[in-house]
Amino acid sequence: MCGIVGCILKENKDVAPILFSCISKLEYRGYDSIGIATYDNTINVKKGKGDIETVNENLNFEDMKGDLGIAHTRWASTGRPTDANAHPHMDNSQSVAVVHNGTLENYTDLKEELIEEGFTFKSTTDSEVIPNLIKKFMEKGKSLEDALRKTTEKLKGSYAIVAISKDEPDKLVATRKDSPLIVAYGEKGYFVASDTPAVLEYARDVIRPDECEVAVLTKDGIEIHDKNGENVKWESKYIDWTPEMAQKEGHPHFMIKEIIEQSEAVKNTLGQKANIQKIIDEIGDVKRICFVACGTSYHASITGKYLIESMAGIACDVVIASESKYTARTWDEDTLVIFISQSGETYDSRMALKEARKTSKTLAIVNVAGSAMTDEAEFVIQTQAGPEIGVAATKTYIAQLTAIYLFAGLLSKNGELIEELNKVPAYIDEAVKERETIKELSKMYTFAENIFYLGRGFSYPIALEGALKLKEITYIHAEAYPAGELKHGPLALIDEKVPVIVVVPPGEDYDKTMTHIEEVKARGAIVLCVGAKGDEKIAENSKEIIGINPEVTDIIAPLVYTVPLQLVSYYVTIEKGYNPDKPRNLAKVITV
Ligand code: M6R
Repeated sequence: MCGIVGCILKENKDVAPILFSCISKLEYRGYDSIGIATYDNTINVKKGKGDIETVNENLNFEDMKGDLGIAHTRWASTGRPTDANAHPHMDNSQSVAVVHNGTLENYTDLKEELIEEGFTFKSTTDSEVIPNLIKKFMEKGKSLEDALRKTTEKLKGSYAIVAISKDEPDKLVATRKDSPLIVAYGEKGYFVASDTPAVLEYARDVIRPDECEVAVLTKDGIEIHDKNGENVKWESKYIDWTPEMAQKEGHPHFMIKEIIEQSEAVKNTLGQKANIQKIIDEIGDVKRICFVACGTSYHASITGKYLIESMAGIACDVVIASESKYTARTWDEDTLVIFISQSGETYDSRMALKEARKTSKTLAIVNVAGSAMTDEAEFVIQTQAGPEIGVAATKTYIAQLTAIYLFAGLLSKNGELIEELNKVPAYIDEAVKERETIKELSKMYTFAENIFYLGRGFSYPIALEGALKLKEITYIHAEAYPAGELKHGPLALIDEKVPVIVVVPPGEDYDKTMTHIEEVKARGAIVLCVGAKGDEKIAENSKEIIGINPEVTDIIAPLVYTVPLQLVSYYVTIEKGYNPDKPRNLAKVITV
Protein backbone atom coordinates (compact mmCIF):
# COMPACT_ATOMS: atom_id res chain seq x y z
CA MET A 1 0.00 0.00 0.00
CA CYS A 2 1.60 3.19 -1.17
CA GLY A 3 0.93 6.68 -2.47
CA ILE A 4 1.78 7.69 -6.01
CA VAL A 5 1.79 11.01 -7.82
CA GLY A 6 2.66 12.15 -11.33
CA CYS A 7 2.67 15.67 -12.74
CA ILE A 8 3.37 17.47 -15.98
CA LEU A 9 3.48 21.26 -15.89
CA LYS A 10 2.06 23.45 -18.65
CA GLU A 11 5.09 25.76 -18.48
CA ASN A 12 8.78 24.93 -18.41
CA LYS A 13 9.22 25.21 -14.66
CA ASP A 14 10.66 22.71 -12.24
CA VAL A 15 8.09 20.19 -11.11
CA ALA A 16 10.00 18.69 -8.15
CA PRO A 17 8.73 21.09 -5.43
CA ILE A 18 5.16 20.42 -6.56
CA LEU A 19 5.69 16.67 -6.62
CA PHE A 20 7.23 16.83 -3.17
CA SER A 21 4.35 18.84 -1.79
CA CYS A 22 1.79 16.45 -3.36
CA ILE A 23 3.48 13.27 -2.17
CA SER A 24 3.80 14.69 1.36
CA LYS A 25 -0.02 14.76 1.50
CA LEU A 26 -0.12 11.01 0.86
CA GLU A 27 2.15 10.01 3.71
CA TYR A 28 -0.88 8.43 5.41
CA ARG A 29 -0.80 5.76 2.69
CA GLY A 30 2.69 4.66 3.66
CA TYR A 31 5.79 6.17 5.14
CA ASP A 32 8.71 3.78 5.07
CA SER A 33 10.49 5.25 2.04
CA ILE A 34 10.01 7.94 -0.57
CA GLY A 35 11.32 8.78 -4.02
CA ILE A 36 10.94 11.15 -6.94
CA ALA A 37 11.96 10.89 -10.62
CA THR A 38 11.97 13.86 -12.99
CA TYR A 39 12.84 14.19 -16.65
CA ASP A 40 15.47 16.78 -17.63
CA ASN A 41 17.19 15.44 -20.78
CA THR A 42 17.61 12.28 -18.80
CA ILE A 43 15.65 10.68 -15.97
CA ASN A 44 16.92 11.67 -12.52
CA VAL A 45 15.91 9.60 -9.53
CA LYS A 46 16.31 10.38 -5.84
CA LYS A 47 14.93 7.94 -3.29
CA GLY A 48 15.61 6.58 0.16
CA LYS A 49 14.38 4.79 3.24
CA GLY A 50 12.72 6.85 5.95
CA ASP A 51 9.89 9.29 6.31
CA ILE A 52 9.39 12.08 3.82
CA GLU A 53 10.99 14.86 5.86
CA THR A 54 14.07 12.88 6.85
CA VAL A 55 14.73 11.63 3.34
CA ASN A 56 14.26 15.14 1.97
CA GLU A 57 16.77 16.52 4.47
CA ASN A 58 19.31 14.05 3.11
CA LEU A 59 18.50 14.21 -0.57
CA ASN A 60 16.88 17.61 -1.16
CA PHE A 61 14.20 16.61 -3.64
CA GLU A 62 13.24 20.20 -4.37
CA ASP A 63 16.58 20.69 -6.15
CA MET A 64 15.66 18.35 -8.97
CA LYS A 65 15.24 19.79 -12.48
CA GLY A 66 12.60 19.02 -15.09
CA ASP A 67 8.96 19.84 -15.76
CA LEU A 68 7.48 16.37 -15.52
CA GLY A 69 7.95 13.64 -12.97
CA ILE A 70 6.61 10.98 -10.67
CA ALA A 71 6.75 10.43 -6.91
CA HIS A 72 6.07 7.62 -4.47
CA THR A 73 5.66 7.05 -0.75
CA ARG A 74 5.90 3.41 0.25
CA TRP A 75 4.38 1.02 2.77
CA ALA A 76 6.30 -2.19 2.25
CA SER A 77 4.33 -5.23 1.14
CA THR A 78 6.85 -7.13 -1.05
CA GLY A 79 10.44 -6.50 0.01
CA ARG A 80 11.61 -4.78 3.17
CA PRO A 81 11.77 -1.00 3.53
CA THR A 82 15.22 -0.19 2.09
CA ASP A 83 16.77 2.42 -0.20
CA ALA A 84 16.87 -0.08 -3.06
CA ASN A 85 13.23 -1.04 -2.62
CA ALA A 86 12.07 2.57 -2.58
CA HIS A 87 10.33 3.73 -5.77
CA PRO A 88 10.63 4.97 -8.52
CA HIS A 89 12.10 1.87 -10.14
CA MET A 90 13.92 2.00 -13.47
CA ASP A 91 14.54 -0.52 -16.21
CA ASN A 92 18.05 -1.84 -16.83
CA SER A 93 18.80 0.75 -19.52
CA GLN A 94 17.70 3.61 -17.23
CA SER A 95 15.18 4.87 -19.73
CA VAL A 96 11.83 4.01 -18.11
CA ALA A 97 10.86 5.02 -14.56
CA VAL A 98 7.80 3.71 -12.78
CA VAL A 99 5.90 4.16 -9.53
CA HIS A 100 3.53 1.38 -8.51
CA ASN A 101 0.94 0.88 -5.80
CA GLY A 102 -0.48 -2.62 -5.36
CA THR A 103 0.73 -6.18 -5.19
CA LEU A 104 1.75 -8.38 -8.11
CA GLU A 105 0.88 -12.00 -7.44
CA ASN A 106 2.94 -13.42 -10.33
CA TYR A 107 6.03 -11.24 -10.02
CA THR A 108 8.39 -14.13 -9.22
CA ASP A 109 7.47 -15.85 -12.51
CA LEU A 110 7.85 -12.61 -14.44
CA LYS A 111 11.15 -11.87 -12.73
CA GLU A 112 12.52 -15.32 -13.54
CA GLU A 113 11.54 -14.94 -17.20
CA LEU A 114 13.25 -11.54 -17.36
CA ILE A 115 16.38 -12.86 -15.61
CA GLU A 116 16.57 -15.67 -18.17
CA GLU A 117 16.46 -13.01 -20.88
CA GLY A 118 19.43 -11.24 -19.27
CA PHE A 119 17.70 -8.59 -17.12
CA THR A 120 19.13 -7.82 -13.70
CA PHE A 121 17.32 -6.53 -10.60
CA LYS A 122 18.40 -4.12 -7.92
CA SER A 123 15.47 -4.50 -5.53
CA THR A 124 13.48 -7.29 -3.93
CA THR A 125 10.16 -5.65 -4.80
CA ASP A 126 7.50 -6.99 -7.11
CA SER A 127 7.33 -3.57 -8.80
CA GLU A 128 10.73 -3.63 -10.52
CA VAL A 129 9.48 -6.06 -13.18
CA ILE A 130 7.18 -3.31 -14.50
CA PRO A 131 9.75 -0.83 -15.96
CA ASN A 132 11.70 -3.74 -17.43
CA LEU A 133 8.63 -5.17 -19.13
CA ILE A 134 7.68 -1.73 -20.46
CA LYS A 135 11.16 -1.22 -21.87
CA LYS A 136 11.15 -4.70 -23.38
CA PHE A 137 7.92 -3.91 -25.27
CA MET A 138 9.21 -0.47 -26.31
CA GLU A 139 12.28 -2.13 -27.79
CA LYS A 140 9.92 -4.23 -29.86
CA GLY A 141 8.51 -1.02 -31.36
CA LYS A 142 5.62 -0.27 -29.04
CA SER A 143 4.88 3.27 -27.86
CA LEU A 144 5.15 3.96 -24.12
CA GLU A 145 1.38 3.79 -23.83
CA ASP A 146 1.08 0.49 -25.72
CA ALA A 147 4.03 -0.96 -23.85
CA LEU A 148 2.30 -0.14 -20.57
CA ARG A 149 -0.86 -1.82 -21.85
CA LYS A 150 1.09 -4.91 -22.98
CA THR A 151 2.82 -5.01 -19.60
CA THR A 152 -0.43 -4.95 -17.65
CA GLU A 153 -1.69 -7.87 -19.74
CA LYS A 154 1.08 -9.90 -18.09
CA LEU A 155 0.42 -8.71 -14.52
CA LYS A 156 -1.71 -10.60 -12.03
CA GLY A 157 -2.74 -8.75 -8.89
CA SER A 158 -3.51 -5.14 -8.14
CA TYR A 159 -1.81 -2.05 -9.45
CA ALA A 160 -1.90 1.66 -10.04
CA ILE A 161 1.08 2.58 -12.19
CA VAL A 162 2.54 5.81 -13.51
CA ALA A 163 5.40 5.60 -16.02
CA ILE A 164 7.68 8.03 -17.82
CA SER A 165 10.30 7.31 -20.48
CA LYS A 166 13.18 9.29 -21.88
CA ASP A 167 12.25 7.88 -25.31
CA GLU A 168 8.90 9.74 -25.12
CA PRO A 169 9.80 12.56 -22.76
CA ASP A 170 6.68 14.65 -23.34
CA LYS A 171 4.20 12.54 -21.39
CA LEU A 172 3.19 10.49 -18.39
CA VAL A 173 1.08 7.36 -18.77
CA ALA A 174 -0.93 5.78 -15.99
CA THR A 175 -3.31 2.92 -15.42
CA ARG A 176 -4.97 0.97 -12.62
CA LYS A 177 -6.60 -2.30 -11.60
CA ASP A 178 -7.96 -2.88 -8.08
CA SER A 179 -5.85 0.05 -6.79
CA PRO A 180 -6.95 3.67 -6.62
CA LEU A 181 -5.89 6.31 -9.13
CA ILE A 182 -7.28 9.73 -9.89
CA VAL A 183 -6.40 12.16 -12.67
CA ALA A 184 -6.77 15.90 -12.08
CA TYR A 185 -6.14 19.23 -13.72
CA GLY A 186 -5.53 22.74 -12.49
CA GLU A 187 -3.98 26.03 -13.57
CA LYS A 188 -0.39 24.81 -13.38
CA GLY A 189 -0.73 21.42 -15.03
CA TYR A 190 -1.99 17.86 -15.06
CA PHE A 191 -1.77 15.30 -12.29
CA VAL A 192 -2.28 11.66 -11.42
CA ALA A 193 -2.39 10.47 -7.83
CA SER A 194 -3.59 7.73 -5.54
CA ASP A 195 -5.99 10.08 -3.80
CA THR A 196 -7.36 13.62 -4.04
CA PRO A 197 -5.69 15.24 -0.96
CA ALA A 198 -2.39 14.91 -2.87
CA VAL A 199 -3.37 17.38 -5.55
CA LEU A 200 -5.92 19.67 -3.87
CA GLU A 201 -3.47 22.55 -3.61
CA TYR A 202 -2.99 22.52 -7.39
CA ALA A 203 -5.98 20.82 -8.96
CA ARG A 204 -9.61 20.34 -7.97
CA ASP A 205 -11.19 18.91 -11.10
CA VAL A 206 -10.84 15.20 -10.68
CA ILE A 207 -11.41 12.30 -13.06
CA ARG A 208 -11.47 8.69 -11.98
CA PRO A 209 -10.35 6.38 -14.80
CA ASP A 210 -12.01 2.97 -14.99
CA GLU A 211 -10.04 -0.21 -14.47
CA CYS A 212 -7.52 -0.87 -17.22
CA GLU A 213 -8.03 2.47 -18.97
CA VAL A 214 -4.83 4.37 -19.70
CA ALA A 215 -4.51 8.06 -18.87
CA VAL A 216 -2.06 9.98 -21.06
CA LEU A 217 -0.97 13.35 -19.69
CA THR A 218 0.90 15.88 -21.84
CA LYS A 219 1.40 19.65 -21.63
CA ASP A 220 -1.71 20.00 -23.79
CA GLY A 221 -4.06 18.06 -21.59
CA ILE A 222 -5.42 14.70 -20.57
CA GLU A 223 -6.59 11.83 -22.72
CA ILE A 224 -8.12 8.66 -21.36
CA HIS A 225 -7.92 5.63 -23.63
CA ASP A 226 -9.71 2.30 -23.38
CA LYS A 227 -7.98 -1.06 -23.71
CA ASN A 228 -7.96 -0.69 -27.52
CA GLY A 229 -6.38 2.73 -27.34
CA GLU A 230 -9.65 4.47 -28.30
CA ASN A 231 -10.50 7.82 -26.72
CA VAL A 232 -12.87 7.64 -23.77
CA LYS A 233 -15.08 10.64 -23.05
CA TRP A 234 -14.34 11.61 -19.47
CA GLU A 235 -16.14 13.76 -16.97
CA SER A 236 -14.54 15.47 -13.99
CA LYS A 237 -15.91 16.19 -10.53
CA TYR A 238 -15.04 19.39 -8.67
CA ILE A 239 -13.70 18.63 -5.18
CA ASP A 240 -14.41 21.42 -2.72
CA TRP A 241 -12.20 20.33 0.18
CA THR A 242 -9.71 23.09 0.98
CA PRO A 243 -5.99 22.22 1.25
CA GLU A 244 -6.09 23.72 4.77
CA MET A 245 -8.61 21.03 5.73
CA ALA A 246 -5.80 18.56 5.17
CA GLN A 247 -3.31 20.33 7.42
CA LYS A 248 -2.78 20.07 11.18
CA GLU A 249 -3.88 23.64 11.87
CA GLY A 250 -1.59 24.14 14.81
CA HIS A 251 -2.34 20.87 16.60
CA PRO A 252 0.59 18.60 17.44
CA HIS A 253 -0.99 15.66 15.63
CA PHE A 254 -3.68 15.02 13.09
CA MET A 255 -5.36 12.62 15.50
CA ILE A 256 -6.15 15.25 18.15
CA LYS A 257 -7.22 17.73 15.48
CA GLU A 258 -9.51 15.11 14.01
CA ILE A 259 -10.97 14.22 17.44
CA ILE A 260 -11.74 17.90 18.03
CA GLU A 261 -13.35 18.16 14.59
CA GLN A 262 -15.88 15.45 15.36
CA SER A 263 -18.78 17.73 16.25
CA GLU A 264 -18.30 19.40 12.87
CA ALA A 265 -18.24 16.02 11.15
CA VAL A 266 -21.58 15.17 12.79
CA LYS A 267 -23.16 18.52 11.83
CA ASN A 268 -22.03 18.19 8.25
CA THR A 269 -23.15 14.60 7.94
CA LEU A 270 -26.57 15.47 9.39
CA GLY A 271 -26.89 17.63 6.26
CA GLN A 272 -27.22 14.36 4.32
CA LYS A 273 -30.70 13.71 5.77
CA ALA A 274 -32.61 14.49 2.56
CA ASN A 275 -30.24 12.39 0.44
CA ILE A 276 -30.56 9.49 2.84
CA GLN A 277 -34.37 9.70 2.75
CA LYS A 278 -34.21 9.68 -1.06
CA ILE A 279 -31.99 6.60 -0.99
CA ILE A 280 -34.34 4.80 1.43
CA ASP A 281 -37.28 5.57 -0.90
CA GLU A 282 -35.38 4.27 -3.92
CA ILE A 283 -34.23 1.10 -2.19
CA GLY A 284 -37.82 0.17 -1.33
CA ASP A 285 -38.72 -2.91 0.71
CA VAL A 286 -35.98 -5.21 1.97
CA LYS A 287 -36.40 -8.31 4.14
CA ARG A 288 -32.88 -8.42 5.46
CA ILE A 289 -29.88 -6.14 5.86
CA CYS A 290 -26.28 -7.26 6.03
CA PHE A 291 -23.44 -4.93 7.00
CA VAL A 292 -19.96 -5.64 5.66
CA ALA A 293 -16.85 -3.77 6.81
CA CYS A 294 -13.39 -3.98 8.41
CA GLY A 295 -11.82 -2.58 11.59
CA THR A 296 -13.40 0.55 12.96
CA SER A 297 -16.01 0.53 10.19
CA TYR A 298 -17.00 -2.94 11.43
CA HIS A 299 -17.70 -1.44 14.85
CA ALA A 300 -19.92 1.18 13.23
CA SER A 301 -21.72 -1.72 11.54
CA ILE A 302 -22.48 -3.43 14.86
CA THR A 303 -24.10 -0.22 16.09
CA GLY A 304 -26.06 -0.17 12.81
CA LYS A 305 -27.31 -3.70 13.43
CA TYR A 306 -28.46 -2.89 16.97
CA LEU A 307 -30.23 0.27 15.78
CA ILE A 308 -32.00 -1.26 12.81
CA GLU A 309 -33.06 -4.41 14.64
CA SER A 310 -34.34 -2.50 17.64
CA MET A 311 -36.08 0.26 15.70
CA ALA A 312 -37.02 -1.00 12.27
CA GLY A 313 -37.44 -4.66 13.23
CA ILE A 314 -35.49 -5.80 10.15
CA ALA A 315 -33.14 -8.75 10.64
CA CYS A 316 -29.53 -7.61 10.34
CA ASP A 317 -26.20 -9.41 10.10
CA VAL A 318 -22.76 -7.92 10.47
CA VAL A 319 -19.83 -9.57 8.80
CA ILE A 320 -16.13 -8.77 8.58
CA ALA A 321 -15.39 -8.24 4.87
CA SER A 322 -12.56 -10.75 4.64
CA GLU A 323 -14.84 -13.40 6.23
CA SER A 324 -17.93 -12.66 4.16
CA LYS A 325 -17.74 -15.37 1.52
CA TYR A 326 -20.12 -17.85 3.19
CA THR A 327 -22.64 -15.22 4.24
CA ALA A 328 -22.46 -13.91 0.66
CA ARG A 329 -24.04 -17.17 -0.51
CA THR A 330 -27.17 -16.29 1.46
CA TRP A 331 -27.62 -12.82 -0.07
CA ASP A 332 -30.52 -12.47 -2.47
CA GLU A 333 -32.64 -9.83 -4.17
CA ASP A 334 -34.47 -9.09 -0.89
CA THR A 335 -31.21 -8.35 0.92
CA LEU A 336 -29.69 -4.90 1.23
CA VAL A 337 -25.93 -5.20 1.73
CA ILE A 338 -24.45 -2.10 3.38
CA PHE A 339 -20.72 -1.50 3.06
CA ILE A 340 -19.07 0.90 5.48
CA SER A 341 -15.62 2.24 4.64
CA GLN A 342 -14.05 5.60 5.35
CA SER A 343 -11.58 5.28 2.48
CA GLY A 344 -13.90 3.59 0.01
CA GLU A 345 -10.84 1.69 -1.18
CA THR A 346 -10.46 -1.19 1.30
CA TYR A 347 -9.67 -4.25 -0.80
CA ASP A 348 -11.58 -6.79 1.33
CA SER A 349 -14.70 -4.64 1.35
CA ARG A 350 -14.45 -3.99 -2.37
CA MET A 351 -14.20 -7.69 -3.18
CA ALA A 352 -17.29 -8.40 -1.04
CA LEU A 353 -19.08 -5.53 -2.78
CA LYS A 354 -18.28 -7.10 -6.14
CA GLU A 355 -20.00 -10.29 -4.92
CA ALA A 356 -23.00 -8.52 -3.42
CA ARG A 357 -23.72 -6.70 -6.66
CA LYS A 358 -24.46 -10.02 -8.35
CA THR A 359 -27.48 -10.71 -6.14
CA SER A 360 -28.49 -7.80 -3.96
CA LYS A 361 -29.06 -4.12 -3.54
CA THR A 362 -25.86 -2.45 -2.35
CA LEU A 363 -25.31 0.71 -0.37
CA ALA A 364 -21.86 2.12 0.46
CA ILE A 365 -21.30 4.57 3.32
CA VAL A 366 -18.01 6.20 2.39
CA ASN A 367 -16.08 9.32 3.37
CA VAL A 368 -13.77 9.83 0.40
CA ALA A 369 -15.57 11.39 -2.55
CA GLY A 370 -14.91 9.68 -5.84
CA SER A 371 -13.30 6.64 -4.20
CA ALA A 372 -13.71 3.21 -5.79
CA MET A 373 -16.70 2.10 -3.73
CA THR A 374 -18.64 5.23 -4.66
CA ASP A 375 -18.51 3.98 -8.25
CA GLU A 376 -19.11 0.36 -7.42
CA ALA A 377 -22.14 0.46 -5.11
CA GLU A 378 -25.68 1.02 -6.35
CA PHE A 379 -26.42 3.61 -3.65
CA VAL A 380 -23.92 5.83 -1.87
CA ILE A 381 -24.07 7.92 1.28
CA GLN A 382 -21.08 10.19 1.59
CA THR A 383 -20.18 11.03 5.15
CA GLN A 384 -18.94 14.57 5.60
CA ALA A 385 -15.93 14.23 7.90
CA GLY A 386 -13.51 15.85 5.43
CA PRO A 387 -10.04 14.36 4.90
CA GLU A 388 -8.76 12.22 7.77
CA ILE A 389 -4.99 11.91 7.81
CA GLY A 390 -4.29 10.16 11.14
CA VAL A 391 -4.14 6.42 10.55
CA ALA A 392 -6.49 5.82 13.48
CA ALA A 393 -10.06 6.44 12.36
CA THR A 394 -11.77 8.98 14.62
CA LYS A 395 -13.92 11.61 12.95
CA THR A 396 -14.71 9.34 10.01
CA TYR A 397 -16.05 6.79 12.51
CA ILE A 398 -18.30 9.33 14.22
CA ALA A 399 -19.47 10.50 10.78
CA GLN A 400 -20.21 6.87 9.78
CA LEU A 401 -22.24 6.48 12.96
CA THR A 402 -24.12 9.70 12.21
CA ALA A 403 -25.05 8.41 8.75
CA ILE A 404 -26.16 5.09 10.24
CA TYR A 405 -28.29 6.80 12.91
CA LEU A 406 -29.92 8.94 10.22
CA PHE A 407 -30.50 5.87 8.07
CA ALA A 408 -32.00 3.85 10.94
CA GLY A 409 -34.05 6.81 12.22
CA LEU A 410 -35.51 7.56 8.79
CA LEU A 411 -36.09 3.89 7.98
CA SER A 412 -38.02 3.38 11.20
CA LYS A 413 -39.64 6.83 11.00
CA ASN A 414 -38.30 7.60 14.46
CA GLY A 415 -38.57 11.40 14.56
CA GLU A 416 -37.45 11.52 18.18
CA LEU A 417 -34.11 9.91 17.38
CA ILE A 418 -33.54 12.32 14.48
CA GLU A 419 -34.30 15.24 16.81
CA GLU A 420 -31.88 13.88 19.40
CA LEU A 421 -29.10 13.72 16.81
CA ASN A 422 -29.12 17.52 16.53
CA LYS A 423 -27.89 17.70 20.14
CA VAL A 424 -24.95 15.36 19.54
CA PRO A 425 -22.41 17.99 18.30
CA ALA A 426 -22.79 19.89 21.60
CA TYR A 427 -22.40 16.68 23.64
CA ILE A 428 -19.23 15.85 21.71
CA ASP A 429 -17.78 19.32 22.29
CA GLU A 430 -18.45 18.94 26.02
CA ALA A 431 -16.67 15.57 26.03
CA VAL A 432 -13.69 17.02 24.12
CA LYS A 433 -13.40 19.86 26.67
CA GLU A 434 -12.59 17.26 29.34
CA ARG A 435 -9.31 16.46 27.59
CA GLU A 436 -6.98 17.91 30.22
CA THR A 437 -8.59 15.67 32.88
CA ILE A 438 -8.40 12.68 30.56
CA LYS A 439 -4.76 13.47 29.82
CA GLU A 440 -3.99 13.33 33.54
CA LEU A 441 -5.79 10.09 34.26
CA SER A 442 -4.39 8.42 31.12
CA LYS A 443 -0.95 8.48 32.77
CA MET A 444 -1.91 5.59 35.01
CA TYR A 445 -2.47 3.33 31.97
CA THR A 446 0.93 3.92 30.41
CA PHE A 447 2.52 0.93 32.12
CA ALA A 448 -0.38 -1.50 31.77
CA GLU A 449 0.29 -4.63 29.75
CA ASN A 450 -3.34 -5.67 29.30
CA ILE A 451 -6.50 -3.61 29.48
CA PHE A 452 -10.08 -4.82 29.30
CA TYR A 453 -13.00 -2.81 27.90
CA LEU A 454 -16.55 -3.80 28.83
CA GLY A 455 -19.97 -2.71 27.62
CA ARG A 456 -23.44 -4.15 27.10
CA GLY A 457 -25.87 -3.47 24.25
CA PHE A 458 -25.03 -0.21 22.47
CA SER A 459 -22.01 0.13 24.73
CA TYR A 460 -20.43 -3.08 23.42
CA PRO A 461 -19.31 -1.57 20.08
CA ILE A 462 -18.06 1.46 22.05
CA ALA A 463 -15.88 -0.91 24.07
CA LEU A 464 -14.69 -2.65 20.90
CA GLU A 465 -13.69 0.62 19.31
CA GLY A 466 -12.00 1.82 22.53
CA ALA A 467 -9.88 -1.34 22.62
CA LEU A 468 -8.96 -1.21 18.92
CA LYS A 469 -7.88 2.42 19.21
CA LEU A 470 -5.76 1.65 22.25
CA LYS A 471 -3.96 -1.32 20.73
CA GLU A 472 -3.29 0.25 17.35
CA ILE A 473 -1.57 3.38 18.64
CA THR A 474 -0.25 2.53 22.14
CA TYR A 475 0.71 -1.11 21.36
CA ILE A 476 -0.86 -2.16 24.67
CA HIS A 477 -2.83 -5.38 24.46
CA ALA A 478 -6.51 -4.57 24.85
CA GLU A 479 -9.61 -6.75 24.71
CA ALA A 480 -13.23 -5.71 24.51
CA TYR A 481 -15.97 -7.97 25.79
CA PRO A 482 -19.73 -7.79 26.01
CA ALA A 483 -19.83 -7.32 29.77
CA GLY A 484 -22.15 -10.29 30.29
CA GLU A 485 -19.73 -12.61 28.50
CA LEU A 486 -16.81 -12.00 30.85
CA LYS A 487 -17.84 -14.69 33.33
CA HIS A 488 -17.72 -17.30 30.54
CA GLY A 489 -13.94 -17.40 30.52
CA PRO A 490 -12.01 -14.13 30.37
CA LEU A 491 -12.80 -13.27 34.01
CA ALA A 492 -9.94 -15.66 34.80
CA LEU A 493 -7.53 -13.04 33.43
CA ILE A 494 -8.66 -10.24 35.72
CA ASP A 495 -6.47 -9.31 38.68
CA GLU A 496 -5.04 -6.19 40.30
CA LYS A 497 -2.63 -5.66 37.39
CA VAL A 498 -5.40 -5.41 34.81
CA PRO A 499 -7.21 -2.09 34.41
CA VAL A 500 -10.82 -2.47 33.27
CA ILE A 501 -12.60 0.33 31.45
CA VAL A 502 -16.37 0.05 31.69
CA VAL A 503 -18.78 1.94 29.46
CA VAL A 504 -21.89 2.52 31.52
CA PRO A 505 -24.28 5.18 30.24
CA PRO A 506 -27.76 5.62 31.72
CA GLY A 507 -30.31 3.31 30.09
CA GLU A 508 -31.61 -0.22 29.78
CA ASP A 509 -28.32 -2.01 30.54
CA TYR A 510 -27.17 0.20 33.40
CA ASP A 511 -28.10 -2.09 36.32
CA LYS A 512 -26.67 -5.21 34.74
CA THR A 513 -23.44 -3.41 33.87
CA MET A 514 -23.11 -2.34 37.52
CA THR A 515 -23.14 -6.03 38.50
CA HIS A 516 -20.25 -6.66 36.10
CA ILE A 517 -18.30 -3.85 37.74
CA GLU A 518 -18.76 -5.74 41.02
CA GLU A 519 -17.45 -8.92 39.37
CA VAL A 520 -14.19 -7.34 38.22
CA LYS A 521 -13.71 -5.29 41.38
CA ALA A 522 -13.96 -8.48 43.41
CA ARG A 523 -10.94 -9.77 41.42
CA GLY A 524 -8.91 -6.66 42.28
CA ALA A 525 -9.26 -4.85 38.93
CA ILE A 526 -8.66 -1.11 38.75
CA VAL A 527 -11.91 0.19 37.27
CA LEU A 528 -12.34 3.30 35.15
CA CYS A 529 -15.97 4.04 34.33
CA VAL A 530 -17.21 6.19 31.51
CA GLY A 531 -20.67 7.21 32.65
CA ALA A 532 -23.03 10.07 33.40
CA LYS A 533 -21.44 13.07 35.10
CA GLY A 534 -22.53 13.17 38.75
CA ASP A 535 -23.54 9.50 38.90
CA GLU A 536 -22.66 8.71 42.50
CA LYS A 537 -23.17 4.97 42.24
CA ILE A 538 -20.50 4.77 39.57
CA ALA A 539 -18.19 7.07 41.51
CA GLU A 540 -18.43 4.76 44.54
CA ASN A 541 -17.62 1.70 42.46
CA SER A 542 -14.68 2.85 40.39
CA LYS A 543 -11.23 4.28 40.91
CA GLU A 544 -11.72 6.91 38.22
CA ILE A 545 -14.68 8.24 36.27
CA ILE A 546 -14.97 10.11 33.03
CA GLY A 547 -18.23 12.05 33.18
CA ILE A 548 -20.45 12.58 30.13
CA ASN A 549 -23.54 14.79 29.94
CA PRO A 550 -26.27 12.77 31.75
CA GLU A 551 -28.74 13.47 28.94
CA VAL A 552 -26.74 11.12 26.73
CA THR A 553 -28.46 7.77 27.16
CA ASP A 554 -27.46 4.34 25.90
CA ILE A 555 -28.96 4.59 22.39
CA ILE A 556 -26.95 7.62 21.30
CA ALA A 557 -23.98 6.81 23.54
CA PRO A 558 -21.83 5.45 20.67
CA LEU A 559 -21.71 8.95 19.16
CA VAL A 560 -20.45 10.54 22.38
CA TYR A 561 -18.91 7.95 24.72
CA THR A 562 -16.44 6.94 22.01
CA VAL A 563 -14.78 10.36 22.26
CA PRO A 564 -13.19 10.03 25.75
CA LEU A 565 -11.91 6.57 24.82
CA GLN A 566 -10.22 8.03 21.73
CA LEU A 567 -8.67 10.66 24.01
CA VAL A 568 -7.42 8.02 26.47
CA SER A 569 -5.66 6.20 23.60
CA TYR A 570 -4.25 9.45 22.26
CA TYR A 571 -2.80 10.60 25.60
CA VAL A 572 -1.40 7.19 26.55
CA THR A 573 0.36 7.20 23.16
CA ILE A 574 1.82 10.65 23.78
CA GLU A 575 2.91 9.64 27.28
CA LYS A 576 4.67 6.60 25.83
CA GLY A 577 6.43 8.79 23.27
CA TYR A 578 4.87 7.26 20.14
CA ASN A 579 3.48 9.08 17.14
CA PRO A 580 -0.31 8.51 17.14
CA ASP A 581 -0.63 9.55 13.50
CA LYS A 582 1.66 6.82 12.20
CA PRO A 583 1.30 3.60 14.17
CA ARG A 584 3.81 0.92 13.32
CA ASN A 585 2.88 -1.70 10.72
CA LEU A 586 -0.33 0.09 9.75
CA ALA A 587 -1.50 2.37 6.97
CA LYS A 588 -4.56 4.48 6.34
CA VAL A 589 -5.84 2.75 3.27
CA ILE A 590 -5.64 -1.02 2.99
CA THR A 591 -5.78 -1.76 -0.74
CA VAL A 592 -4.21 -5.22 -0.41
O1 M6R B 1 -11.28 2.64 5.00
P1 M6R B 1 -12.01 1.62 5.82
O2 M6R B 1 -12.99 2.20 6.74
O3 M6R B 1 -12.64 0.55 4.95
O4 M6R B 1 -10.89 0.91 6.65
C1 M6R B 1 -11.15 -0.21 7.45
C2 M6R B 1 -10.11 -0.39 8.52
O5 M6R B 1 -8.85 -0.64 7.94
C3 M6R B 1 -9.99 0.84 9.41
O6 M6R B 1 -11.24 1.16 9.96
C4 M6R B 1 -8.98 0.62 10.55
O7 M6R B 1 -9.43 -0.38 11.40
C5 M6R B 1 -8.80 1.94 11.29
N1 M6R B 1 -7.74 2.70 10.69
C6 M6R B 1 -8.52 1.78 12.73
O8 M6R B 1 -8.41 3.02 13.35
